[in-house]
Amino acid sequence: MHRRTFLKAGATAAIGALAASRFAFAADAELVLSPGEPGAVISPQIYGHFIEHLGGVIYDGVWVGRNSSIPNVDGIRKQFVDDMKRIGAPNLRWPGGCFADGYHWRDGIGKSPARPRTYNFWQRRMPAGLDATETNQFGIHEFMQLCRLIGAEPYVAANVGSGTPAEFHDWVSYCNAPAGTLSLADERGANGDKQPFGVRYWGVGNESWGCGGTMRPEEYATQYRKFVTQFPNYTQPFLVATGPRGHSADGDIGWTTGFFEAMRGYTPPDGFSIHYYTDLRPTTVKAGDFKANEWYEVLLRGVRLDKVIEDHWKEMEKFDAAHRTKFVIDEWGVWYAPGSEITPSYILSETITLRDAVHTGMTFDIFNRHAAKIAMANVAQTVNCIHSLFLAQAANFVRTPVYHVFDMYRAHMGARQVPLNNPVADLDVPVLSGKAKLPGLSASASIRDRRLAVTLTNPSLDAALSVRLKLNGGARATEARATVLTHQDMRATNTFAEPEVVKPAAHPVKVVADALELSVPKQAVVLVECEMG
Ligand code: AHR
Repeated sequence: MHRRTFLKAGATAAIGALAASRFAFAADAELVLSPGEPGAVISPQIYGHFIEHLGGVIYDGVWVGRNSSIPNVDGIRKQFVDDMKRIGAPNLRWPGGCFADGYHWRDGIGKSPARPRTYNFWQRRMPAGLDATETNQFGIHEFMQLCRLIGAEPYVAANVGSGTPAEFHDWVSYCNAPAGTLSLADERGANGDKQPFGVRYWGVGNESWGCGGTMRPEEYATQYRKFVTQFPNYTQPFLVATGPRGHSADGDIGWTTGFFEAMRGYTPPDGFSIHYYTDLRPTTVKAGDFKANEWYEVLLRGVRLDKVIEDHWKEMEKFDAAHRTKFVIDEWGVWYAPGSEITPSYILSETITLRDAVHTGMTFDIFNRHAAKIAMANVAQTVNCIHSLFLAQAANFVRTPVYHVFDMYRAHMGARQVPLNNPVADLDVPVLSGKAKLPGLSASASIRDRRLAVTLTNPSLDAALSVRLKLNGGARATEARATVLTHQDMRATNTFAEPEVVKPAAHPVKVVADALELSVPKQAVVLVECEMG
């Protein structure tokens, strides 16, 4: 086990002196937390989900059909429901993605055998000879049943690219009008749901700069206003406008400037989306088989999200100093070039390894630290896709390493962010282009009632890190426990045949007066939870 230079310049001398005098435990770093001065609430919606009519996501991943021999609830895969409930999945975004701007909601209602077969946007990506025809067996009623079963808020993406404001408004009325008020509410009742769905979160288009209509920001702003002006206001809505492609080389700041410039004098949206893919598609980095520099390349590209959030927030401030509009990071994840699909027709599905789990921990820490700016985030996508929590094929089902990180970070959902000073120095790491600096330890903390949760991710492939979590302001922990997710093999993954290769385990942590002491293994995500006295 190598030791490394852990402290940022400036912190070194002070902590060094402390270490000499007070640490019985040889800490590499002391992180100072202030549980008595909590900040913003970490919206539970940050730990949200996304499912699209794409490859094997909906059909097979979620929907197996009512007559399937695979255990199901009203046609929905039971294991998917159970596991999503277990992690407290707070929301589900649907039906896309790019699919949304070609989707006409009426195709997905009524008796299922009578529903039309329609063109799916993703047909263009299907390997030759394979078909993506949309059967519309999974529509709004099935989606709402899924949300109810899980206990998740629905987040519906409307069709702006090929739809009309009228079609959108009818869909909103169909979902939300009280029973007996409109013909659309009667129709909903006739289709099995008398009571309104109460859908609050509406995405007004998706990637309107790309598959959602290839619009310029000012063109989209005009569409946005047309789509929302006569919005049927049955439920206090949370309207999300299409935001930037955050992983563009320039961060796509021009989209944000252009949109908000064109919205001057009009009501701003509640949410502004950011799509941030850790996009490895233009590289040779593979999903399942990789070297050390490719491990670090993924993590380095992942943490650039921090700056994207900062930059767009600052830009929005020029137009909306009070920050009425919050971010909805409704697509994020590591996107590799094709090659590891579980079956060729499940396009965009990937092998998910420990590397993706570590990336997830670092991403969630970024979200938590920016809690005041982010209303919601949605992983792309929950099953059989990019950065998935689950892979499913017929009767086979497996939780990926990413699932376990969602499970561990539940502790932060709806808790208040705790200020944390992290002095750990950046690591010098090999990446595709040579050398780069990567945060040496990713961390975030929160408190709910008197329970403190601290998450720590060590991205190093070489060295564990001994840390002391010092509780400021006279705070004391009475008892603590920790959980670790790691594996000796950086490429470790869970498969249908071996589903529990990467799974959380209990981890030692010691309460010492006003501090907690533990070692964070290399290539690991750790959760520490403690009760405050
Ligand atoms: O998540 C896959 C696709 O990525 C979505 O459909 C689209 O919005 C994005 O480009």
